Amino acid sequence: MEKTVSEAIEFRRSVRKYDPNQSLNHEDVKECIRQATLAATSSNLQLWEFYHITDSEILKKLSKACFSQSAASTAVQLVIPVVRKDLWRKRSTANIDFHKQQFEAQEVRNAKKEKRTLKYYEKLIPVLYREFFGIFGFLKKVFAKTTGIYRPMYREVNRGDLRVIAHKSTALAAQNFMISMAAKGIDTCPMEGFDSIRVKRILNLPRKAEISMVIGCGYRDEGGIYGPRFRVPFKDVYYSI
Ligand SMILES: Cc1cc2nc3c(=O)[nH]c(=O)nc-3n(C[C@H](O)[C@H](O)[C@H](O)COP(=O)(O)O)c2cc1C
Repeated sequence: MEKTVSEAIEFRRSVRKYDPNQSLNHEDVKECIRQATLAATSSNLQLWEFYHITDSEILKKLSKACFSQSAASTAVQLVIPVVRKDLWRKRSTANIDFHKQQFEAQEVRNAKKEKRTLKYYEKLIPVLYREFFGIFGFLKKVFAKTTGIYRPMYREVNRGDLRVIAHKSTALAAQNFMISMAAKGIDTCPMEGFDSIRVKRILNLPRKAEISMVIGCGYRDEGGIYGPRFRVPFKDVYYSI
């Protein structure tokens, strides 16, 4: 039986040594990746892709690109959430198509709501995501700063800000994935210790794709958890206002 969400959250640890004798069910991991895609995502743009690596030769190459750290070299499978900010047009169009279909299926239509939703994807998203050598981003930042003097203003508008936004959503999906795996009793370890250019080359990814993290997967071996869980005292990070 699967663990509850609370049990899965408590169970999840970063495991750096996996049992080589326990294989992973391909479909179980794939299902956890599907659940990853149910994570909240900025503007529902879903600027991500997930690479599920089971091929032993590719695993070896990726392990080397992760500096042969044990969470990668002993991993039975790897899952790599990839940030695809460059796919914003395609994902925006998918949202537009979805909403149009939904509207058309409705018996009582709300013209105002339809216009607002479509305007969001047809006008606002391109204004936010369209780039031209950083020039648009710079102009948007100046506009946001000056307008922000007089009224509340959205300020995360340049290329760097949008990278953070896309990475945020992909990281939420990665956490969903690890919790789903934990619910099945499967261990993971997120890693940012890797050579991103080499990882991208191995996965044959385009230049603009960015690696969010590499996640080692398997069942924990003895000594796979390096020590007791350490967290700074909750009172130091919790503020009730
Ligand atoms: C974004 C990110 C990158 C990480 N990179 C690595 C890594 O490269 N290698 C590693 O062994 N652990 C890595 N970790 C795991 C952390 O060290 C670990 O989450 C932390 O020590 C807390 O331990 P716990 O996950 O067992 O609660 C990473 C974690 C995160 C969230």
